Amino acid sequence: MSNPSETELIHMFKGIPFTTRSSLELLKSLDTFDAREDDVLLGSYPKSGTHWLAGVITKLYNTPITLTSPIEFGDVSKLEELNKLSSKRIIPTHLDYNMLPSNFKNKNCKMIYISRNPKDTAVSMYHYYKENPHLPTVDTWTAFFDLFLEGDVVCGSWFDHFLSWEEHKNDKNILFLFYEDMKKDLPKTVKEISVFLDIDISDDDIQDICKKSSFSEMKNDTEKENSDPSHTVCALTSNRKLIFRKGTVGDWKNHFTPKQNLKFEEIFNEKMKLSKM
Ligand code: A3P
Repeated sequence: MSNPSETELIHMFKGIPFTTRSSLELLKSLDTFDAREDDVLLGSYPKSGTHWLAGVITKLYNTPITLTSPIEFGDVSKLEELNKLSSKRIIPTHLDYNMLPSNFKNKNCKMIYISRNPKDTAVSMYHYYKENPHLPTVDTWTAFFDLFLEGDVVCGSWFDHFLSWEEHKNDKNILFLFYEDMKKDLPKTVKEISVFLDIDISDDDIQDICKKSSFSEMKNDTEKENSDPSHTVCALTSNRKLIFRKGTVGDWKNHFTPKQNLKFEEIFNEKMKLSKM
């Protein structure tokens, strides 16, 4: 069987490429979503550590919660399915802040955004493109590098995504996290998340959560479990085995040429002029 064509895999919505696993009908109806005040939204650009963050958060609660698949993943029946859930909902999304269903904002739902050095994000996404049958074929790192900088990849430009969320960094209902901080001091981030979510937790519990959320533990769990195709926190795959690749900081150095690094820095500095970070 031949590989599916790019048009079968990707379609545009409001100028942003989405995989066809997010139906246009669903994307168009997102704004009608009936958010609840106790919903927690996990926002991220793909490959920023979404699964890691979701793994930590689900271990924090000792009351019933449901970690759903991303709100933009599926067909038009998705919103109805989410409505039927009676427990507290933890809802991941790769949507740009401006595309979020407005009820999340009107109801001041808590939102946690995780970001990562875009150079490592680009490398992680490149490998993901190569392995994931639901994404277009990329031949070389060089070709992917250009696509990434042009924002011609799923979920669009990293810069636009980050800036759309960063504008709300100081909103009281938003917690802004970095993958690199989690790598440096996971207990500190877990504590920060628990305070933000109003969850009482002991230092021993924090240690336990960190142990269970290490890269090797999470990778092992995935290899042991029978992956349920509907269980995904990334709108780009249902196959969790594709997620746990290396889990390190700085892998970009093994991929970027000096010339690519210069080009990246130039574009980064230009695009991030408006950033306060
Ligand atoms: P790499 O491809 O660089 O290894 P997402 O969940 O947003 O798709 O992000 C996936 C990236 O997060 C992958 O990066 C993956 O290895 C990394 N990751 C997942 N779980 C992790 C963990 N427990 N610790 C560190 N990194 C983790």
